[in-house]
Amino acid sequence: MSLFGEPFTVKTLKSGKTIEVAEGQTLLQALLDAGIPMDYSCEGGVCGTCVVPLVSGEVEHMDEFLMDDERETQMTTCVSRGIGTIEIDV
Ligand code: FES
Repeated sequence: MSLFGEPFTVKTLKSGKTIEVAEGQTLLQALLDAGIPMDYSCEGGVCGTCVVPLVSGEVEHMDEFLMDDERETQMTTCVSRGIGTIEIDV
């Protein structure tokens, strides 16, 4: 499984940033590069440490941590990706 995919845009509500996530970059890496402090551990979609609240947008969930109903309002940042533009509450 590739960790990478199509580029997308993320708006961060708490920190008020708009960040472009490149195709060769994870959302977690893009957030860290933008200076947003993030907790993470496995970077493989398993532990749930990097989960953030999802406010809007369509997400390609690639983790093995969240339950289907949790995927409506949360996403892992280490492996999952937005489609187009998404908003998260960090
Ligand atoms: Fe473990 Fe993202 S760091 S699920």
